[in-house]
Amino acid sequence: MPESQDLAPPAPAGVDTEKPSAARVYDWYLGGTQNWAVDREFGRKAVALFPHIRPLCRQSRTMMNRIVRAALDAGCRQFLDLGSGVPTVGNVHEVVRDHLPEQERATVVYVVYEPVAAAHATVLLERDQAGEWAGFARADLRDVHTVLEHPTTLRLIDFTEPVCLLMIAIMHFIGNDDRPDEIVRKYREELAPGSWLAISHLTTENVPEARAEQVRRFVDSYRETSNPLWLRDSAAMRSWSGDWRVVEPGIVRCCDWRPDGPPEPLDELVAPFGWVGVAEKGH
Ligand SMILES: C[S@@+](CC[C@H](N)C(=O)[O-])C[C@H]1O[C@@H](n2cnc3c(N)ncnc32)[C@H](O)[C@@H]1O
Repeated sequence: MPESQDLAPPAPAGVDTEKPSAARVYDWYLGGTQNWAVDREFGRKAVALFPHIRPLCRQSRTMMNRIVRAALDAGCRQFLDLGSGVPTVGNVHEVVRDHLPEQERATVVYVVYEPVAAAHATVLLERDQAGEWAGFARADLRDVHTVLEHPTTLRLIDFTEPVCLLMIAIMHFIGNDDRPDEIVRKYREELAPGSWLAISHLTTENVPEARAEQVRRFVDSYRETSNPLWLRDSAAMRSWSGDWRVVEPGIVRCCDWRPDGPPEPLDELVAPFGWVGVAEKGH
């Protein structure tokens, strides 16, 4: 993989390259190219604080891909990906395209709020000529009404049919002041029976104290970005599921959600730092 700085794109209009952004730092963790010097500098410091962050992000990403495939296998044909960011590979529409037979259709809406993520989504969807069945809504996921009423959402999502709502590695950017319970409940209420709600989160729940301290210092370092971070235990998922049924295998470490094979040693090492759960709305 070439060094990111060789390929870093010119900053699109409206992008603040003075302050690190979670979307671009996340892209750097994943080895992508949509990041600037300020993000890489922040990322290197973050890795020094919490050396497991890069493999943890990769683990989260492959787990998200498995959830999308499982939702497709369960018959879900609509995806709403909140806080999709700028990752270079393994995006929801790519997984959908690769997993479904050519004659079958599904729709994907990415919800992005950072200008860099919007610029990236435009390029990606044009490149893949996916505009007919995939699009992005520029919105803050906390503003549920704007997300659900956005013209792209209305064009691509039929709310009388099941939707797979993805909130992957995103709720830890939503502080308690933003009333996360209420946000998730509002989304749940709008979705049809058979819908899926997938949430993953950074945690120190089952992490030994020395490591937990590393994570807390890493989380503190995000105060200087435009996206501060919060830690939560898996009890949050039980509450965010409401009366929906948590599907097998329950609320687990990311690498344990319907794995394709046994975890690699590195997976085991980083697994305690994140949990994931998928809930289904009953008929
Ligand atoms: C860690 S990345 C996760 C990306 C993707 N969901 C994944 O799992 O690969 C977090 C993303 O959430 C976005 N984000 C943070 N707060 C947001 C908000 N209030 N509304 C929409 N997106 C947000 C950031 O811009 C970033 O792209």
